[in-house]
Amino acid sequence: MKVKTLTNWSGFVLLLLFLTLWSCQNSDTSTSTTKANPANSNPAIQQKVKELMGKMSLEDKVGEMTQMTIDVLSVGEPYELPEPHALDEEKMRRVLVDLKVGSILNVGGHAYTQEYWHEIIGRIQKMAMEEKPSGIPVLYGIDAIHGTNYTMGATLFPQQSGLAATWNPEMATKMAEVSAYETRASAIPWTFSPVLDIGRDPRWSRLWEGFGEDVLLAKRMGLAAIQGYEGDDVSDPFKVASCMKHFLGYSMPWSGKDRTPAYVPERLLREYVMPTFQAAIDAGARTVMINSGEMNGIPTHTDSYILKDLLRDEMGFKGLAVSDWEDIILLVKRHRIAKDHKSAIKMAINAGVDMSMVPIDTDFPILLKELVEEGEVPMSRINDAVERILTLKIELGLFENPIYPMSDYPKFGSKEHSDIALDAALESIVLLKNEQQLLPLSDQAKVLVTGPAANSLNPLNGGWTGTWQGVDAKYNTPNKMTILDAVRDRLKVSRTVVEFVEGTNFTETINIPKAVAAARRCDVAIICLGELPYTEKPGDIDDLDLPPAQQELVQAIAATGKPIVLVLAEGRPRVIREIEPKAGAILMGLLPGNEGGRAIAQILFGDYNPNGKMPYTYPRFANTLLTYDHKGTERISQEFGTDAFRPQWPFGYGLSYTTFEYSDLQLSADRLQADGTLEVSVKVTNTGDRDGKEVVQVYVADKVATVTPPVKRLREFDKMELKAGESKTVSFDIPIQQLAFVGRDMRWTTEPGDYEVEIGGLKAPFELVEN
Ligand code: BGC
Repeated sequence: MKVKTLTNWSGFVLLLLFLTLWSCQNSDTSTSTTKANPANSNPAIQQKVKELMGKMSLEDKVGEMTQMTIDVLSVGEPYELPEPHALDEEKMRRVLVDLKVGSILNVGGHAYTQEYWHEIIGRIQKMAMEEKPSGIPVLYGIDAIHGTNYTMGATLFPQQSGLAATWNPEMATKMAEVSAYETRASAIPWTFSPVLDIGRDPRWSRLWEGFGEDVLLAKRMGLAAIQGYEGDDVSDPFKVASCMKHFLGYSMPWSGKDRTPAYVPERLLREYVMPTFQAAIDAGARTVMINSGEMNGIPTHTDSYILKDLLRDEMGFKGLAVSDWEDIILLVKRHRIAKDHKSAIKMAINAGVDMSMVPIDTDFPILLKELVEEGEVPMSRINDAVERILTLKIELGLFENPIYPMSDYPKFGSKEHSDIALDAALESIVLLKNEQQLLPLSDQAKVLVTGPAANSLNPLNGGWTGTWQGVDAKYNTPNKMTILDAVRDRLKVSRTVVEFVEGTNFTETINIPKAVAAARRCDVAIICLGELPYTEKPGDIDDLDLPPAQQELVQAIAATGKPIVLVLAEGRPRVIREIEPKAGAILMGLLPGNEGGRAIAQILFGDYNPNGKMPYTYPRFANTLLTYDHKGTERISQEFGTDAFRPQWPFGYGLSYTTFEYSDLQLSADRLQADGTLEVSVKVTNTGDRDGKEVVQVYVADKVATVTPPVKRLREFDKMELKAGESKTVSFDIPIQQLAFVGRDMRWTTEPGDYEVEIGGLKAPFELVEN
């Protein structure tokens, strides 16, 4: 039986009122939906939480606040589990029954089958509910971040940066809907997704896990994903709880290396880092994961300003805050802010951590219990945390249905789902260059397919695929096509020659002379380059340039004079300044997932007209890593150096096989007041001979402001489809409050003065006047 969500109308009305008032003050979140933030708002759920709390001992409670990895329930040493995986009944009993651990996460090394997930989570739930006196089910969590990537045969979508490149929020919703379905089909009700960290540093190893560098794009995509994961009722057997990651400032390590110190001034924090989270909180996101790093000298796990003042009091989050991996212990081992584990636990729990992702250390609940008994952690803090955890467990319907039968999920890994993933992959590919219309290729052309990304699914999928780092081909989905497979398949009918020589792996040359010889025999070389998958620390790099071996392959093939199509499969934009001129055409695959090979082949041969746009700036030089919305005028841009803002490709860039012309930019008024709404319209014409999709991007520049203004900011966008020769007029209503920035007093503000709207190269001025 499902727990129905009853609406507490008075609370709901108050909340709506609050949201309305709040959004008047803070227009930057005005696109968020007004779904009630769920925690504790439902009387039936509150009642059940109260009843449970009344029966729980301190031991039960600290157990609920503990999250451990499946390794500790398994035969073998944690992180070195023998194959095949097996649960260890004795260890399970120690963890689930004696320690009363309330949450388990992760996978023991690699993806399992759907059947095996059912078997092991079934056993875990049975033991927790039958042998533990409280009978509280376990909350199982997993990083299903681009589909259910830890279940064999699941549907794998583009990673978040690829979804962002579609500029189509519906794609994020669809990914999350399918992922929610297949994650629940794997007996798991909680996913650690989406990443809402803004991706403004291309050096960072997790850039691809986010929705790019722009706040508006990331906010819309994030909201869409949360809607897809949670829907309107998270107890629905096809929905999961989402987890906003990683609160707050995680994506901005000063050194570019994962989990190293970040320094984020308050204005940057408020204007660029918080809005994606705020919008998600307003939309009712259930859980949040805390930034593993430190910001401004304070590890976030001990920062009550971030975890209480901002997250709870100011932003209004009511759900569950889980730590990241081992981060309380790391307060001792990495951050050196606590002298021992016990004081680290005290700091973190008192600062606002509700659940600790321990993940293998069994001391946490024991030491936390001692701290409460010694009066070092107040019981009220424990009760807050446990109430949030129980609320979520009840909302997810775990007490009634800890797992649903597999037969309820006939669409798991189905064609219906992979067709949706293919659509997303197609929309995610960005055409960066196409000189003399080298693309699309004729199916009569003899092609060489070469390069390390040519014949593997891994560089198309990236990290968190089958395994944490995503490099082990053993767990790839059978029958999915690499780029080479898909090109061969496409040219089957025309029986055109397809040669394949690897040439290099990701970092070392293998057989470049053989690739050159093959290129000589062909009409065109499709060179597939990129990155071996990675995430987190293992993905740190010292050099943003594409590794020399791969560049050498391009130089050597270029010397043959044969036309080159570069296909990039990258988690972050690796600098390719030297080889870019050698390629007539370049396609960017932002980790398009299992259907990426098919999508790329369809685009190469013109079956699909590309329409992806860059969700971040592609740098030309590793020392010039500016985002599109950097500060300054042309003059200041020059002061950054002669190579100032001259990226390889800017944010929002992407070509099509057709051409679009913008005309007739109209503003509803040339003078507006701060409470007004600017209506902007523009005519877009498909002037080529193919149907195509175009993303209309509305930028606004605030010409003079009391805080130095960025050159421009994206303020609206819309993706539209135009038949060859067709024109459409698109219009946007932009409340002036949506142009607000964080002023000198750290509050959102707009200021009178001159502004300029820019769409598709057209510009129009308007003036904001005093009310
Ligand atoms: C990552 C998180 C992830 C967690 C659980 C951490 O190391 O930073 O993004 O959700 O592990 O696997």
